[in-house]
Amino acid sequence: MKINLTFLFLFSFCCYIADAQTAMTNVASRKCVSLNGKWQVIIDPTGAGDWRQVWQEKKPERKTDFIEYSFEGGPELSVPGDFNTQLPELKLYEGTVWYKKNFNVSHESSKRLFIYFGAVNYLADVYLNGNLLGKHEGGFTPFQFEISNSVKQGTNTLIVRVNNQRKKDGIPGLGYDWFNYGGITREVNLVETGSTFISDYFIQLGKNSYSSALGWIKLSGKSPSQNITLKIPELNINYKIRSDGEGLAEVKFDADFKLWSPENPKLYKIIIQCETDTITDEIGFRSIGTKGTKVLLNGKPVFLKGINIHEENPLRAARAYSESDAILLLKWAKELGCNIVRLAHYPHNEHMIKTAEKMGIMVWDEIPVYQRIEFSAPGVAEKMDLMMQEMVTRDKNRCSVVIWSLSNETDSSPDRDKALTDLTDKCRKLDSTRLITSVINDEEYNNNVMNVWDTLYRHFDLITLNEYLGWYVPWQGKAGDIKWNFICHDKPVIITEFGGEALYGNNSGPKDEAQSWNEEYQENIYKDQVAMFGTMKELSGVFPWLLTDYRSSGRMHPVYQKGWNRKGLISDKGEKKKAWYILFDYYNSIKNNY
Ligand code: GCU
Repeated sequence: MKINLTFLFLFSFCCYIADAQTAMTNVASRKCVSLNGKWQVIIDPTGAGDWRQVWQEKKPERKTDFIEYSFEGGPELSVPGDFNTQLPELKLYEGTVWYKKNFNVSHESSKRLFIYFGAVNYLADVYLNGNLLGKHEGGFTPFQFEISNSVKQGTNTLIVRVNNQRKKDGIPGLGYDWFNYGGITREVNLVETGSTFISDYFIQLGKNSYSSALGWIKLSGKSPSQNITLKIPELNINYKIRSDGEGLAEVKFDADFKLWSPENPKLYKIIIQCETDTITDEIGFRSIGTKGTKVLLNGKPVFLKGINIHEENPLRAARAYSESDAILLLKWAKELGCNIVRLAHYPHNEHMIKTAEKMGIMVWDEIPVYQRIEFSAPGVAEKMDLMMQEMVTRDKNRCSVVIWSLSNETDSSPDRDKALTDLTDKCRKLDSTRLITSVINDEEYNNNVMNVWDTLYRHFDLITLNEYLGWYVPWQGKAGDIKWNFICHDKPVIITEFGGEALYGNNSGPKDEAQSWNEEYQENIYKDQVAMFGTMKELSGVFPWLLTDYRSSGRMHPVYQKGWNRKGLISDKGEKKKAWYILFDYYNSIKNNY
């Protein structure tokens, strides 16, 4: 049996810089054929499929031939969905799974055709009719391939090599505190457009403005320079512009917008029309900014009553992907009194963002530059850039998104500082209308004094930190007596994580012992934190860790955890823990006038 060495060499050494295309904006409103549903699969724990070249789907030619793989007669998996919760043999699987889907096409040459993936965790090699279209790295952002010239009339075969093995130079890296769900976790669409189409647009209020919409529209195709109309029927806006030779048209117009806010999540139907394409969207207009230590929404100070959420439906113990998953999680957040959710630690599916927008919940969007990242390794900076661009490209027209977060709890080092400073500048160039930050947890705690000195905060719009006083870090005095010192005094302070674990219904064991995992211990942590919040004048928001218990293989206590992080305020069965009521009362005590 001869292994194709050249292929192995190429395979193991090529760094997986994505060469998929950045996905077009707002696929939901385009002409799509869904490729969701059952896909045939080959589970490939040894990677034999790479040297057997599974995508060729070889068939025996002579009587003596035999082929040691086939999609026919094999298992099937549902798309969208993680693969770990669909087959018992994939429960804790980290490796390669080959997915196959046939689709029929009668393609007009005047049209263009794209394959769009909402997300694939973690590596995706995409083949069409046995030919490699390209690759993508990153488990939580969309990508696409144009197939106008490679598709054939009639039946076509799409094969995707999906691999969710953790990578040292990956984003995230080898270690992270959530379950590594693999697979084609979000929707797949065949998207048809005109020869020139509206590939991207950005329509939002200008920085610190309540009536001036600013932005741009980008056409892609053979006739980039076209007349374009942007209509907002409800406001009698009928704005006409012409795109330049690059297909770009600047947008600037005033209107008497009803501003979007948690109290009034107003969205406007927008129609963008060029000579060869039309797209519709629902966009809200709101202004987000800061003044000193205050966060301003539509010019008014707002206290961010937040909660952290992982993209998991605890009731299904599986990766969340649907609108109903989003509604379940966001209803829980709303019931708690939240006006903002931090979607940890990666861009969640679009249903979460759009449902939050409709429900009047602000969104914190983050890329998984999480804890131990190989900042100096080749290709890592490019991967961070790409994930940031893919996140911003997808969500920039969502007014619910008010904060871009570019990392969480990374270890302090010159390489880190350089990488995150550069990334912050790039993000600000892409979108100067939102707040940009990174979460740090290297504050020093001595004698009940907390010193937040990290100089990196100077580059961010907010001081955002995680602290686990009362859980990982014992109090050094009364919570209400703690003193905080910050490196900057003119930025809002946001506590982006705090909390502790408890197993719902467990009221046994000494109430003052963490090891008992009882609800009272967690409840006391919340009581102390709320007492501390009351003393912090710079504080403009808090985000408990987190809404519900969630799966994380590193949480191995056989009685209390069983592979679950139990810091949820709600159990994996949807039950409210005692601490839930502490936060509920605290949030109800804070009045925001939007
Ligand atoms: C960290 C981290 C989270 C993690 C949490 C915990 O701060 O940001 O991702 O899950 O702590 O330890 O539970």
